Amino acid sequence: MPSRKKTTTKKASAKKTIKKDVSKKTVVKKQSSEKKVIVPSKKKQSAKKSLAKKVPMLLRGMRDILPKDGNLWLTIYNAASDISRAYNFGYTETPILEDASLFIRSIGKDTDVVEKEMYVFEDKDEKKVALRPEFTASSARVYISHGMHSQPQPVKMWTIGPMFRHDRPQAGRYRQFRQFDCEVYGVRDAVVDAELIVVAYNYLKELGIDCQVHINSIGNLDDRQRYLLELSSYLRSKRSMLSDISKKRLLKNPLRILDSKDEGDKVVLEEAPQILDWLSDDSKKFFMSVLEHLDECGIPYILQPTLVRGLDYYTDTVFEFFAIDSTDGSQSALGGGGRYDGLVKQLGGHDTPACGFAIGLERVLLAMRKNIESRDTIDYSFDNRPPIYFAQLGAQARRRALYLIEEMRKQGIMFIHNLAKTSLKSQLEVAAKYNATHTVILGQKEIQDGTVIIRDMESGIQEIIDEKKLAKTLQKLLNRATK
Ligand code: HAM
Repeated sequence: MPSRKKTTTKKASAKKTIKKDVSKKTVVKKQSSEKKVIVPSKKKQSAKKSLAKKVPMLLRGMRDILPKDGNLWLTIYNAASDISRAYNFGYTETPILEDASLFIRSIGKDTDVVEKEMYVFEDKDEKKVALRPEFTASSARVYISHGMHSQPQPVKMWTIGPMFRHDRPQAGRYRQFRQFDCEVYGVRDAVVDAELIVVAYNYLKELGIDCQVHINSIGNLDDRQRYLLELSSYLRSKRSMLSDISKKRLLKNPLRILDSKDEGDKVVLEEAPQILDWLSDDSKKFFMSVLEHLDECGIPYILQPTLVRGLDYYTDTVFEFFAIDSTDGSQSALGGGGRYDGLVKQLGGHDTPACGFAIGLERVLLAMRKNIESRDTIDYSFDNRPPIYFAQLGAQARRRALYLIEEMRKQGIMFIHNLAKTSLKSQLEVAAKYNATHTVILGQKEIQDGTVIIRDMESGIQEIIDEKKLAKTLQKLLNRATK
């Protein structure tokens, strides 16, 4: 024992010496060795401390999806899944991170997406990688690298997920955003372009968004080459009237001047040659056929001769979707797409025609929000069925409630519930907030009797039923309410 005591005392005194030295270091500026010890100022020290306490912030242009919008998002996702499966698209997923050259070669090195917005960095193997700014290039890679040309054509793929563009954030424009995307490979037929437009149009309609299709044809590569000579010569003759950005584009990518938002540019463009006049007979015929299909399906469209899209891979049909009642006057597209018959070959695959679209889901959400008049009650309906609340009173009832909730779920009935709440009053208040049509109430007495109470939330009338009949009774109530 005494020897142990000794050790402790030694350790304690050693600690003391260290402490002393440390405290000396912070106070003493120059030690005998003349070495300078930098002492952080009090201000800096406290700034460091408060930085350590600061909650790490969400990155600019990124957004969280919160439970209050959860049902809206799931509706958007489910509608995408329903419609793409109904039109025989196969669900596909690709990595978010890809070889940067895939996008540079597909989208084009002089486009805004590649030149300014793409997240590119070197990974630990010093490989240049990129966060995908879109899905089309990845789907072309999938088609080539999985030998899909030998499958029955067309190959139809759909996906949903996050894309990344380091753009200037504003309403409806984020650095991480989600797209619903459909692509068709292996068939050059106007019916494919029309079918894609029909799918996108009806997807938006199903979500309560009436939209208009803006459509154009930019012809095949030869048509475009001839047109570009004509367009460039016209724009050069008006160079002094063009905006600075358009002057730059005149050298690199004159086609992009066509969708300039600058008022001065727009005046110049009024007299510019139109691409539709430079289409080959084949492209013209193809485009007319797409329009005929749209007429047949009653899809409203506007011919937009200046629509060229901002990505280099397009050929022939290009289109965009705009909400008809965009009351904020915002002219940002809900989605867009087109044909890209040259991309697969350009990436090293077989000569394969292709067409597709992508819809920006944050913009869809904004449009849907505008349509929801009242946000006083929380939309918590499951599968479009009216919500039923499950209230419980007492520890025993809570245990039984957990069991019953699972039993009912197995039979397709879901409840809103909060097992942490103990007072009936507060549970009924929550039920009203969620707009529940009925509340199932379970208390001590009901457990003893093997019953449950079903309360009609509108009339306040309560009915006691045998617990064994709960599923059947609720099923009847739900069927009646959804009729
Ligand atoms: P995109 O026009 O670049 O086309 O994007 C499609 C949609 O994604 C846009 O209309 C917009 O709704 C949404 N979007 C784009 N950037 C942002 C952003 N920064 N924030 C929020 N939403 C955004 C494509 O991506 C092509 N890959 C479409 C396609 C598929 N073409 C053929 N197949």
